[in-house]
Amino acid sequence: MADSMSAAELVVRPYTDSDEAAVVALWRRCDLTGPSDDPQRDIQRKRQSYPELFLVGVRAGEVVATVMAGYDGHRGWINYLAVSPETQQQGIGRQMMAAAEAALERTGCPKINLQVRRSDANAVGFYERLGFAVEDRISMGKRIGRGNQ
Ligand SMILES: CC(C)(COP(=O)(O)OP(=O)(O)OC[C@H]1O[C@@H](n2cnc3c(N)ncnc32)[C@H](O)[C@@H]1OP(=O)(O)O)[C@@H](O)C(=O)NCCC(=O)NCCS
Repeated sequence: MADSMSAAELVVRPYTDSDEAAVVALWRRCDLTGPSDDPQRDIQRKRQSYPELFLVGVRAGEVVATVMAGYDGHRGWINYLAVSPETQQQGIGRQMMAAAEAALERTGCPKINLQVRRSDANAVGFYERLGFAVEDRISMGKRIGRGNQ
């Protein structure tokens, strides 16, 4: 039987500045940031580009989930999808992705891409369940400029 906490409704809304500490703590608990990462800087950058695509999931007044979507004018991207460990496997990840997908659709975005570590079978299984397919590409990257993190 669901307890009162898990039965509470999830509210998905855009990130606001007062969410920062809770969001950074959530990312650390979900192992999405390492010691050399600067999540506060990532958030500040995101505030400059489609901030309405950065969503938090709040339940009983607590930030329990995030998703940071983006649109480059051609493809939509998903980053920082996180559900707090104690609220995983309750449909929250699916709800966050549905909200991100709807928000991307509103921008006119026709397709979503995302990157997952090859070793992260959980994330791959989750995304496949949501209809994402592994595509025959390799991921390449290059750090540029002064903001080289
Ligand atoms: C990945 C993550 C976001 C999933 O969130 P969640 O709230 O536990 O997922 P949900 O409960 O919404 O699951 C949605 C569906 O995926 C399925 N699913 C979840 N994990 C799965 C897995 N490893 N393999 C296969 N299916 C999976 C669920 O059974 C559910 O199916 P249904 O809705 O058809 O019944 C969460 O585990 C998480 O935050 N992990 C740590 C951070 C992370 O890995 N982020 C992604 C980085 S790329």
